[in-house]
Amino acid sequence: MARYLSGIQPSGHLHLGNYFGAIRQHIAAQDDAFYFIANYHALTTVNDAATLRDNTFDVAATYLALGLDPKRAVLFRQSDVPEVCELTWLLATVTGMGLLEKAVSYKEKKEHGISASVGLFTYPVLMASDILIYDSDVVPVGSDQVQHVELTRDMAGRFNTMYGETFKLPTYVLGTPVPVPGIDGQKMSKSYGNHIPLFAEGKELKRLVGAIQTDSKGLDDPKDPDTCNVFAIYKLFASQAEQAALAARYRAGGFGYGHAKQELIAKIDETFGPARERRRELQADPDQVEQVLLDGAARARAIARTVLGRARRACGID
Ligand code: TRP
Repeated sequence: MARYLSGIQPSGHLHLGNYFGAIRQHIAAQDDAFYFIANYHALTTVNDAATLRDNTFDVAATYLALGLDPKRAVLFRQSDVPEVCELTWLLATVTGMGLLEKAVSYKEKKEHGISASVGLFTYPVLMASDILIYDSDVVPVGSDQVQHVELTRDMAGRFNTMYGETFKLPTYVLGTPVPVPGIDGQKMSKSYGNHIPLFAEGKELKRLVGAIQTDSKGLDDPKDPDTCNVFAIYKLFASQAEQAALAARYRAGGFGYGHAKQELIAKIDETFGPARERRRELQADPDQVEQVLLDGAARARAIARTVLGRARRACGID
């Protein structure tokens, strides 16, 4: 069976955009998958220990609450397999500066005049190490991460050419992009401040959904569901039949945006109700989450040691 691997950066609380863009797919394809929380990578943007710890726990609790089953998938913290840092070094020595200079994560920062750390520059090498150290076959990615997998293949190929067959060359599967509008209608993103946190509920959820921008049509006016942000988010949750039913109410008139927002809140509550409950239980019992992560790391680490051993021997470090 092909080994599926992905990393999730703990760079902030997860929102609906993350859910529909990645988390849902990760959980749907969890059999024998490796998912890790990329806390080493997050250090390139998060520089506060308590925040990083909280965010790391939150990713784990969120995945578990949403149905990640540790018997099916391996869930772990990147830093619990420190071998990945050693392999990063071995790979760095076969990686040309030019290869990393063209990496978008670095290039974009530089173009915006933001000074980049060596860590950010080296980010793609750490990511290559993450992928190669588990003999991964397939990396599910969004379009922003394709280049990173290509760089990984370049580094693996280079190492293999220099030292003999050592690494398996991974491929990627590109997920179909799922456009999730934020409350202002732009793409939902934490950095735009227009996001709805995955586990928002009650008053907070009401306030956020209430703030979703709509046009100024009155209650009685017929409305166009296809240009409405509320409808666009509702669609993500609803079946075809439910979508058609709501669209008909929009078009008929006498149905206001306030009503549509209530429908959306009900859908969100229905979809995430059980996961919210489960997440609360996990928050009350952090040791349980920790144990899952440690068990995951033990499984991951056994593979990492084997692959790192192969790489060390190949280049003469034994
Ligand atoms: N760079 C990825 C992101 O920002 C996170 C990541 C780190 C990752 N290592 C990985 C993803 C390895 C896939 C495989 O989303």
